Amino acid sequence: MDITTSTVFIPGATSGIGLAIARALTEAGSRVIAGGRSVSRLSEPFDTVEIDVTDAASVARARDRVLDKHPDLSAVITMSGIMVPEDLRDPAHFATTERTIDTNLLGTIRVVDAFTPHFLQRGAGTIVTVSSGLAYVPFPLTPAYGATKAAVHSYSESLRQQLAGTGVEVAELIPPEVATELMPGGTTSPTAMPLADFVRESVALLATDPTPHEITVDRVKPLRHAVTDGTYHQLLGALSQALAALGR
Ligand SMILES: NC(=O)c1ccc[n+]([C@@H]2O[C@H](COP(=O)([O-])OP(=O)(O)OC[C@H]3O[C@@H](n4cnc5c(N)ncnc54)[C@H](OP(=O)(O)O)[C@@H]3O)[C@@H](O)[C@H]2O)c1
Repeated sequence: MDITTSTVFIPGATSGIGLAIARALTEAGSRVIAGGRSVSRLSEPFDTVEIDVTDAASVARARDRVLDKHPDLSAVITMSGIMVPEDLRDPAHFATTERTIDTNLLGTIRVVDAFTPHFLQRGAGTIVTVSSGLAYVPFPLTPAYGATKAAVHSYSESLRQQLAGTGVEVAELIPPEVATELMPGGTTSPTAMPLADFVRESVALLATDPTPHEITVDRVKPLRHAVTDGTYHQLLGALSQALAALGR
């Protein structure tokens, strides 16, 4: 994906990482269409399209609106996501589990399915999925979140293999903890990567290698490579400290 000439739809660009990447790509010369449920709140120099990724009809409507106006669409970044703590000792957690899977995993797949035929027809395009360092070592306070991100990683690998040779590239963006409002009530730690630093490094990586399989800033590498580094159990133990928030 050429960051200077692409036309990019980013569902999940009304705040946080998505909005910051939308601004950075616009500044680099690309045309961005920002999506989300609350796009009406945005006043940015790029197009916006309302989309709820948990609603198949909304995804189809958004796809039609984006492609009607931007038939040259060359990339989509599936940024929409939620992260909510769950206490697995309380069966009431299941509503959160369902919502998380519907948004993070099924939402990703709905968006990918909506745009893949367009990219196949063009014989070119980039699909950027968004997982997390927590796909590689789970954060036990948010079990469904980690499960969906591990699933997004696995799905991206299969998608890339199925689309090989079609001209459609699949890249997985793997953020570390970044200072945004992702987790309501927030447990963003003081060590979270500043949003501007994360976006600057990610966009620079894309500028250097426009067709990466994974976009991994330095800060996420310990999680991404924990298994091969032999640090998985140590990191899982450290991440489990946050279970204190559940009163343990
Ligand atoms: N921040 C981190 O530490 C971190 C780390 C690893 C991965 N990530 C991933 O990065 C992505 C962006 O997160 P963020 O940190 O930037 O958090 P954020 O500021 O809360 O952004 C989340 C975005 O997802 C959108 N969204 C949520 N539910 C949606 C739905 N049903 N339909 C359409 N859009 C929906 C929101 O838009 P609306 O509310 O307007 O719909 C918002 O634009 C997520 O996939 C997250 O899992 C973040």
